[in-house]
Amino acid sequence: MVKPEPTRDQRLLIHNLVRRDPLTGLAEDVRKGLSAQPKRFLPKYFYDELGSQLFEAICLLPEYYLTRAENEILQRYSDEIAAAVKGQKTLLEMGSGSASKTRLLIEALLRSQDELLFMPVDISATALESSSRILLQSYPRLRIEAFAADYFAGLAELGKKPRRRTLALFLGSNISNFDTDEANRFLRAMRSVLHEGDALLLGADLKKDRTILEAAYNDALGVTSAFNLNVLARINRELGGTFDLHAFRHRAFYNEAAGRIEIYIESVVKQTVRISKLDLEVQFESGELIHTENSYKYDMAGIARLAEATGFSHSRTWFDSQERFSSNLLLAA
Ligand code: TRP
Repeated sequence: MVKPEPTRDQRLLIHNLVRRDPLTGLAEDVRKGLSAQPKRFLPKYFYDELGSQLFEAICLLPEYYLTRAENEILQRYSDEIAAAVKGQKTLLEMGSGSASKTRLLIEALLRSQDELLFMPVDISATALESSSRILLQSYPRLRIEAFAADYFAGLAELGKKPRRRTLALFLGSNISNFDTDEANRFLRAMRSVLHEGDALLLGADLKKDRTILEAAYNDALGVTSAFNLNVLARINRELGGTFDLHAFRHRAFYNEAAGRIEIYIESVVKQTVRISKLDLEVQFESGELIHTENSYKYDMAGIARLAEATGFSHSRTWFDSQERFSSNLLLAA
């Protein structure tokens, strides 16, 4: 027999701000991206249900050291991080995904306060819902108010909510997918919902030897390839596309001058693809690239510059034992 859990629903509130007709956004953006020169897709379309699961699988790959490195930092220093922001706190997270690393901070906060409100924002409503339910089961003193939204819509909504002292999280390699302008814009938006004394814990992967970086985005098992090509599969599924996934391949390399991994889908042959719901025909040259994502790598000067330009002061950085990844505490100045 299932025991009723009367308090559970009261502890969970999910706001769905994703456009009512999500296909419209996808359709417009795919049309724009495939008509552009060079062709490109927006990274947020990686994360449909399958894509979110494939990303979880990427995080388990031996080559993708980022997740393990950040986990090590949070395992070791979460109490220190929590203590660096004074008082009873609300925990906010942008791009929470499965929220598995978040647990370490939730646990640290619940060691020093009786109850905790967690406010995650994620583009995937399904990921939010399942992660929220699991968290609530693990932590009876936790409440969750979640926002299924893209970052800016989520922040706009969060800005309207009165909050106590806040620790915000932007973990993993989320910041890396922004170029300098976008990172500045995002951090300024983040800063505008924080009050003086609040803080942002910013995960940032570090510049390092190209062999290590390139392996992280070209795993031997091919999971990263599947994750990347899933965007084409998604267009086939949702927009009636005719992409032959065997005629495209995953490409990723480190552009050292620009300090970023560049990720593409390459057309292996000259071909034409039709997308019926867009009433669109797209030509591809052999070797033509569709840009899908950049992953910027940071150094401490870059973090300091970013903080300074966006109304934060860079107060502390924690590293994993191999110094591959950094967790940076930025204080709302
Ligand atoms: N934000 C992650 C990163 O830059 C996403 C990612 C990992 C990714 N592997 C990828 C995105 C491959 C596209 C293709 O590390």
